[in-house]
Amino acid sequence: MLRGTFELIGDKSISHRSIMFSAISKGNNKVSNFLMGQDCLSTVSCFRKMGVDIEIAGKDVFITGKGLRGLKTNDNIDNLLLDVGNSGTTIRLIMGILAGNDFESTLIGDESIGKRPMKRVTDPLRMMGCDITGKDDANFTPITVRGGHLHSIDYKMPVASAQVKSAIILASLYADGQSIIREKVKSRNHTEIMLKAFGADIKENGLDIIVNPVDELFNQDIYVPGDISSAAFIIVGALISEGSEVLIKNVGLNETRTGIIDVIKNMNGNIEIIDERVVGGEKVGDLLVRYSKDLTATTIDKTIIPRLIDEIPVIAVLATQAEGTTIIKDAQELKVKESNRIKTVVDNLKKMGADIEELEDGMIIKGKTRLHGATIETFKDHRIAMSFSIADLISDSRVMLDDTNCINISFPGYFNLLKDLTK
Ligand code: S3P
Repeated sequence: MLRGTFELIGDKSISHRSIMFSAISKGNNKVSNFLMGQDCLSTVSCFRKMGVDIEIAGKDVFITGKGLRGLKTNDNIDNLLLDVGNSGTTIRLIMGILAGNDFESTLIGDESIGKRPMKRVTDPLRMMGCDITGKDDANFTPITVRGGHLHSIDYKMPVASAQVKSAIILASLYADGQSIIREKVKSRNHTEIMLKAFGADIKENGLDIIVNPVDELFNQDIYVPGDISSAAFIIVGALISEGSEVLIKNVGLNETRTGIIDVIKNMNGNIEIIDERVVGGEKVGDLLVRYSKDLTATTIDKTIIPRLIDEIPVIAVLATQAEGTTIIKDAQELKVKESNRIKTVVDNLKKMGADIEELEDGMIIKGKTRLHGATIETFKDHRIAMSFSIADLISDSRVMLDDTNCINISFPGYFNLLKDLTK
């Protein structure tokens, strides 16, 4: 069982953005409660390579902004090599910034990044006039961006993706007129919230985002709230292991991210929000979660998918402990995450004895089933590794993960925390 109270580590999405927007602002910026995970550190290292002074002190980061057009390659280098590691957020958002800056750079990453589609970003940036080349018509790394003059764009988003939306918003800051980005379903809006605080001219009209170019962004102090996507593992662990009660302090509760709370409530799970407040434009609160013995199945579809996309692997573990048939559909985006998360979740849960069926766009899980220990193939996907460490809490023999280093991508200190909470 899991019992105890803890302060949640910083949000990954917000941490990335805090470095990027500070780097292109004018003046001195301070970020507190920054997530020192490998993905966010990849963003730090890319901006340092572009001449940005970034100092790390404990959980704080101090960034001296170079201004909107001040990123600079070393004059002696014709093409700057930027390594994004495993980070989809780094590569996709950075392309929007590179598109507006007048130098050439090439983006590379690890094996998983090499398989993730980038045309969703390079296509609209090309429409804005950016010169981009790369493998398979700039769908895969390595991708070379030659930034410069950009036109405005009126763009209907073909996929629900905050990374794509953010890249276009960032490029729109540099464009020659007003841009409109039209979403079908609202994806996480941390870019809009934070860029407005930096002085960007961004308005929302329903699902449309209207961006006017600006000359400069201005420095900020940013507090990064806790990451609900990281909390998700502990939340599910507490819901399914008998006798659990955890209080998770400082959880980011932006409505574009809280789909998991709605799903848990639908499933009859015992979760309570305490002391809700707003910090730096983002909603924050504490979550009290208790073991819930009468969980029931649910259906998850496109109306909620973008609000819980990263939590689906651990929600699948939860569904194995809920009475009835849980259906997860319209989740084809899972196939192009750090691993093919439909397949990795279904294959590994099957190995553990779950009654689960793979769908083209999701999965069907029948509960409640007893889970058995197994060796889990993580594909070095941090969220798969953590999801199955949670399945281990209730399995009748031990779960073995083929890799645990990947957890440092988003949740450094995860196993220490889990050990502290395990009673
Ligand atoms: C993120 C957006 C989501 C999410 C990822 C972080 C972001 O990706 O899965 O972990 O910070 O904008 P998509 O934009 O591909 O949906």
